[in-house]
Amino acid sequence: MSTAFINWSNRLHWLWLTLATVLAAPVQADVLQESSQRFHPQWSAGGMVASQERLASLAGAEILASGGNAVDAAVATAFALAVTLPQAGNLGGGGFLVLWLPGPSPAAGRGCPTAPELRLGRGLAVAVNFRETAPLAASAGMFVGPEGEVDRQRATRSLFSVAVPGSPAGLLLSHRCYGRLSRATVMAPAIRLASSGFPLGKELADSLRQATPLLQTDPTSSQLFLKGPLRPGQLWRQPLLAASLRRIADQGEPGFYEGPIADALVTLMRKRGGLIRHADLKGYRAQLVRPLQARFRNHAVLTMPPPSGGGVTLLQMLQVLEPMALAELGLNSAATLHRMVEAMNLAYRDRNHWLGDPDHVAMPLERLLSAAYAEQLRAQIRSERHRPAVELAAEGPSSAGTNTTHLSVADPQGGMVALTTTLNFAYGSGISVPGAGFLLNNEMDDFTAKPGVANAYGLVQGSANAIAPGKRPLSSMTPTLVFRPDGRPWLATGSPGGSRIITTVLQVLLNRLVHGLNLAAAVASPRIHSQLWPDQISVEQGLSPDTVRLLEAKDHRVVVTATMGSANSVEVLPEGGSLGAADPRRRGAAAIGELPLN
Ligand code: DON
Repeated sequence: MSTAFINWSNRLHWLWLTLATVLAAPVQADVLQESSQRFHPQWSAGGMVASQERLASLAGAEILASGGNAVDAAVATAFALAVTLPQAGNLGGGGFLVLWLPGPSPAAGRGCPTAPELRLGRGLAVAVNFRETAPLAASAGMFVGPEGEVDRQRATRSLFSVAVPGSPAGLLLSHRCYGRLSRATVMAPAIRLASSGFPLGKELADSLRQATPLLQTDPTSSQLFLKGPLRPGQLWRQPLLAASLRRIADQGEPGFYEGPIADALVTLMRKRGGLIRHADLKGYRAQLVRPLQARFRNHAVLTMPPPSGGGVTLLQMLQVLEPMALAELGLNSAATLHRMVEAMNLAYRDRNHWLGDPDHVAMPLERLLSAAYAEQLRAQIRSERHRPAVELAAEGPSSAGTNTTHLSVADPQGGMVALTTTLNFAYGSGISVPGAGFLLNNEMDDFTAKPGVANAYGLVQGSANAIAPGKRPLSSMTPTLVFRPDGRPWLATGSPGGSRIITTVLQVLLNRLVHGLNLAAAVASPRIHSQLWPDQISVEQGLSPDTVRLLEAKDHRVVVTATMGSANSVEVLPEGGSLGAADPRRRGAAAIGELPLN
């Protein structure tokens, strides 16, 4: 063989190899990525809505298809959830919303309160606080009985448990300042679902059946929700709720906080001994606030400030865990989970001690969120042994609760919204407003009824969260947005789950950002939770018994519990389009893209 031929042949060979590598590399990476994951997100060429109920997600997707932005779609979905998911979607509750929109602020000239917006990347971020407030006649000891005991019934199932609703004000304020379409347009799907009705789903029928003992205690709730045999497929119409929604669509905030709805609510309170009066309703204001911001492994993370205790606690946990080699230690390995649990316990201790409504209490937020403090906390974590809760804080009893709902939206321009809303328990107080068609929250139980005594979520809180007139109870709701290192929008998430909300959001973020799971796998992966008291790790089914034994060998108590959270999440794709993942833990959840392509 001539040398010339060998040279040519070698060159061709190398050229071929190089070409093959270049051509194959991305394909192989995609294939690997695809085949390494057991769950897959929904894809859309346009925007995406992920919520806990399919018809509500469709309502949001319809608004995106009509040219609405992420805020329009989120507001439409939230109003629709008040119709199709009455256990958590609501008019009579409250919540938080964090948004990011590209471009300059659209709020100017819309009669909006001055918003402490945050410029981030090529857009702006703002948070909306529509947490309920304590009535003006509320007082610190209102749930403490003559013997010094907390009256749980009064704190959770009476008219005293009801705080002034914030959802209508919060959704309307978000829409007015940051939406694009008219109020009538974004509320139309909810009005249609309430007035024309929808076929009762198996999930809602089961949920109503389960809640029957509670709903039966209130004559109005019985009439509204226990009509007939609750057969899946039966047409479920809610004409009174439709009328209330129409009134809100026509009049805005005064449609709810003044006039016949307000009159009906106050009459109920006067007749049956509750505290809310016209002055409480008329004086209620949702607030535009600056989101909390931190960097985690080069990603900006935006989340809800107090009165959410969720944001501060999430950012503390992220900062403590940031330098740890969690990916190397492995997803859901005992070594990783141990570190996470120890970080959770330290952060929950601070949550329960320090946090409350910023309009009423001073909080050392700067210190709690500083790198130096995170380092101090990290130094307290021993890799070989669990630190018992008694060493960190005084003991308290515990129990658990189950409802709230989270929705996430991405729009085709990259706008993102994370919105969590709640009545507190499933169906709230169980009490409905006569003639108005909606349930009232029992959010007063999120206050500290008595320092040192646990609330429904086992949270033993301090005086920072004591009841005071007009004050907002501390919450765990943690709507959160994440950005790519170059500042472009990436991910919106959040969850229900009471005190477990914060650790659920933490795990979605760690699964996605550290362990490389795709969005759907990050959401579906088995979860754990620890909150200092009770001194135990709750784990979902799916964590290996071998891992549990390794945790026990580090002195952890591990308890397999019901599923935790429902983190309906979305992502904005850098090449355009979006992804969505509905949490498989709740039947009926759905991620629906703007275009009918998936
Ligand atoms: O604001 C809070 O922290 C509670 N009221 C949330 C309640 C909840 O998430 C119940 N869960 N599934």
